[in-house]
Amino acid sequence: MVVVAILAAGKGTRMKSNLPKVLHSLGGKSLVERVIESVEPLSPARRLVIVGYQSEQVKTALTKISEVEFVEQTVQLGTGHAIQQLLPHLEGYTGDLLILNGDVPLLQTETLKNLLHIHQENQNSCTILSAHLLNPKGYGRVFCNSEGIVQKIVEDKDCTPNQREDNRVNAGIYCFRWSDLAKFLPHLEANNAQKEYYLTDAVTQVGKVMAVDVEDEQEILGINDRLQLATANDILQRRIKEKWLLAGVTLINPVSITIDETVELQPDVIIEPQTHLRGKTVIQSGSRIGPGSLIENSQLGGNVAVQYSVVTDSFVEAGTKIGPYAHLRGHAEVGTNCRIGNFVELKNTELGDSTNVAHLSYLGDTKAGTQVNIGAGTITANYDGVKKHKTRIGDRTRTGSNSVLVAPITVGNDVYIAAGSTVTEDVENDALVIARSRQVVKPGWKRKAEI
Ligand code: UD1
Ligand code: CA
Repeated sequence: MVVVAILAAGKGTRMKSNLPKVLHSLGGKSLVERVIESVEPLSPARRLVIVGYQSEQVKTALTKISEVEFVEQTVQLGTGHAIQQLLPHLEGYTGDLLILNGDVPLLQTETLKNLLHIHQENQNSCTILSAHLLNPKGYGRVFCNSEGIVQKIVEDKDCTPNQREDNRVNAGIYCFRWSDLAKFLPHLEANNAQKEYYLTDAVTQVGKVMAVDVEDEQEILGINDRLQLATANDILQRRIKEKWLLAGVTLINPVSITIDETVELQPDVIIEPQTHLRGKTVIQSGSRIGPGSLIENSQLGGNVAVQYSVVTDSFVEAGTKIGPYAHLRGHAEVGTNCRIGNFVELKNTELGDSTNVAHLSYLGDTKAGTQVNIGAGTITANYDGVKKHKTRIGDRTRTGSNSVLVAPITVGNDVYIAAGSTVTEDVENDALVIARSRQVVKPGWKRKAEI
C-alpha cells in the first residue's frame, strides 16, 4: 500500500509572481495538477497535498480533483518541516510514503512505478529518484558509497566547490518506509545555508537508502523560475508533437505550432504554421488547420479547412471552410460544406448544411437553415441594450448585402431580403422583403449658391 504526499506549500520566490508557483500553468494544466495526475495510475490509498502559501487559492484550484486531502503548513520552514506536518495524519500507518515535489511536473508514471518496485524489492528504508545532469546547478547533489548506497544529499547552496562539481542530483521524488521516516522527523535540524528543515537530511538518518537514476533526465526538471517553466513547456510540446507526428498527423514547421495535451487529432490532419490547438479540441481526418489559427475547446469534422481564424467552444461539421479572418465563439455550430469567410463573427449561432456567410457579417444568437446565403455585411442585431434575442432564418433564404435583422425575428424559407434592408418584423415563406427608403433622384439639381 502506498500513500502519496505532494509538497505544494512554498511561495516559489524565484518565479517572481503573485500566483503560487505550483499553480502556474504548463500546457493547459497547473504544475501540481500534473503531479497529481502522474500518481493516479498507482491507485494510492491517500493523496495528501501540503499547502501553505495562498493555500485557499491552491485548494480551490484542486477541488475538481476528487479525494485529495489538504494538510496545512502555515509557515514554510522547508521541505522537511512540510513533511513533519503529516505526522498527526499518518499516525499508526505502516506502509510506504511516496513524496513528490509539487514543482516537478513532467514525471512519467512508469518512472514512479519503477521507483516503487525497486524500493519494495530491495526492502529499502528509502529510495530516491536521481539523475545525472549536464547542468546540476540549483539541485541537491547525491553522494553514494562504493555499494551504491546513498550516504548524503547536499543542497546546492551548502555544497563545497568540490561537491558542486558532482552532477548526480536529487529529483525531489522519494519513497520512504513511513515508520522509519516518522521516527526521525521530530529530530530534524536547520543547520544549513538556508536555515530550513531539509527533508533531504532524513536520508542520513533512516536505514538503507538507494538512488535510482531516471532514464530520461528531462522528466525530473524542477520548476523554480520562468526560464525552467519555458524549458518544461518546450519538452512537453516536443513530447506531444512527436506523438501526433508518429500517429499520422502532418505538422508544418512544428516549432511554430503549440498543441495542448488534451487535444485529439486523427491521421491525415494537417496543421500549418503558427497554429495553436487548445483545451478539449478534436479534429477529424483530412482537415487542414492554419496557417495562423487558434482552435480552443472545439470539435471539427473531417476535411474542414481553417485559415487565419479563431474558433472557440464551437462545432464545425465535415467539409466546411473557415476564414481567412473568421471568429467562431460561444457555442457556434456550423453544418457540413458551409463557408464562413472573411471577417465573419458567429456567436452562439447554428447554421444548417451548405450555408454560406462569406463576408463581413456578425451573426449572434441565430439559427439559420440549410443552403442559406448570408450576403456581405449582414448583421443580426441580437442585443437591445438589456437582453439578447434570437434570430431565425429558414432554408434557402438569401439576405442582401448590408441588411440588418433586428431580433427577436423569424424569417421564413426561400425569402429574399433586399440589400440595405433593416428588417424588424417576421417574414413569411417565399417573400421578397424590401425594407429601405426609395432612392430619390432629382435630375439637374444644383446647390443654390452655384446658380
Ligand atoms: C528540492 C530538494 C533538492 C532537489 C530539488 C529537486 C530539499 C531540501 N531540496 O530543492 O535536493 O534537488 O528539490 O527539484 O528538499 N515546499 C513546501 N514547504 C516548504 C518548502 C518547500 O511545501 O516549506 C515545497 C515547494 O512548494 C516545492 C517543493 O517543496 O513544491 C520543493 O521546494 P523548493 O524550495 O523548490 O526546493 P528546491 O530548492 O528546488
Ligand atoms: Ca524546486
